[in-house]
Amino acid sequence: MAENPNLETGEVNLFDPEIAACPQPVYRKMLAGCPVAKSAIDGAPIISRYEDVTWALRHPEIFSSAMDLQIALGTERPMIPQQIDPPAQTKYRKILDPRFSKKRMKELTPQIRAEANALIDRFIDAGECEFDEAFAIPLPCNAFLHLMGLPSEELDHFLRMKNGIIRPQTLTDDMNQVQAIRIETGKSIYAYFEDLIAERRSDPRDDLMTYLMQAELEGEKLSHNEILDICFLFLLGGLDTVTATLGCSIAYLAENPEQRRRLVENDTLLDGAVEELLRWETPVTGVPRLLKQDITLGGIDLKAGQLVTLSLGASNTDDEEFGNAADVDFARERNRHLAFGAGAHRCLGSHLARIELRVAIEEWHKRIPDYSVKPGETPTYSAGIREVQYLPLVWPAS
Ligand code: HEM
Repeated sequence: MAENPNLETGEVNLFDPEIAACPQPVYRKMLAGCPVAKSAIDGAPIISRYEDVTWALRHPEIFSSAMDLQIALGTERPMIPQQIDPPAQTKYRKILDPRFSKKRMKELTPQIRAEANALIDRFIDAGECEFDEAFAIPLPCNAFLHLMGLPSEELDHFLRMKNGIIRPQTLTDDMNQVQAIRIETGKSIYAYFEDLIAERRSDPRDDLMTYLMQAELEGEKLSHNEILDICFLFLLGGLDTVTATLGCSIAYLAENPEQRRRLVENDTLLDGAVEELLRWETPVTGVPRLLKQDITLGGIDLKAGQLVTLSLGASNTDDEEFGNAADVDFARERNRHLAFGAGAHRCLGSHLARIELRVAIEEWHKRIPDYSVKPGETPTYSAGIREVQYLPLVWPAS
């Protein structure tokens, strides 16, 4: 394999599934040798230093998120609020933030705990499971569907829609088909939520869908299209990222038994472990931005109109911010990681995600403290948002 990153040309390939399985050494070479690298796929600049990435995230007037046309995700309009810049974006956050507050999300804990145990009941006696399918997908996805007011018996349908946009390559071997799948899937997502809005109009419920239809800011309700554009994003954000983070976290713990034992023996480390694994694994590896003005960063000239990637993954392994960044330390004192982004677009669902991750990791280890990757098997990761799509685990059967 060619040197990755290539320090002479600054080219880096982060889209190889083998790199996705273990990207941290590549990140650290980028930080040391080419803090503004160049994607080997499309030549787009990739910014990796913590200081630069934080600065970019906090300056949306220079690093814009309004780029729906440049990033083909099967949408007909920008997704709200992610592809809108402040100040318009701020209006949407004022409507959405209270529904995702820490206090509100904490109230979901007993329900998520019960669901985690019900799932574990199904496979614990077998002494093995494929973690993604058996636990990492259904636990957060069902919690999210419940919150939205969407039927959990249709989970497979929602996952197909989500995968058709985020991972169309999992649905076809023909790369020419990828964009066609995104466009078709996009249409089906709009159509699904069109029907649901009509349903809730005649039969309001105590759920997020109904809230979106009734919410008002400064006397104005959200328009029909605004609700659709929020729902489109929710489907992607709510059904992928926690699954991805949970899978990466458990894969790490399966492969690092000393760390796992430390956690099992001392549950005061739980919150620290969730944060540290978010930092080290950073499943949402990067976020795109559109440059609004010419700037020079790390000695590289970047031009207005260029699409750039802010590498959250690399910045989270930067020794300048984290000291000993390569040490995965569940008792780390200062952990201002960027796994949820920063600035105006910082993740709306972070409180929900943290509660799901904490409860999932806690309940799993109470009941299955001693586990490993099935001998002879290798977990497989997807690139982009890093999900361990195949994680076969074994433990002593009861
Ligand atoms: C561990 C799980 C999660 C991770 C790692 C994660 C990561 C992120 C990141 C990095 C951003 C910033 C995007 C940017 O700056 O362009 C973001 C934004 C967002 N996330 Fe999450 N996310 C997670 C869970 C969730 C969940 C469960 C939801 C469910 C509602 C959600 C909804 C959103 C929304 C709506 C935004 C856009 C916010 C805005 O643009 O104002 N996320 N997330």
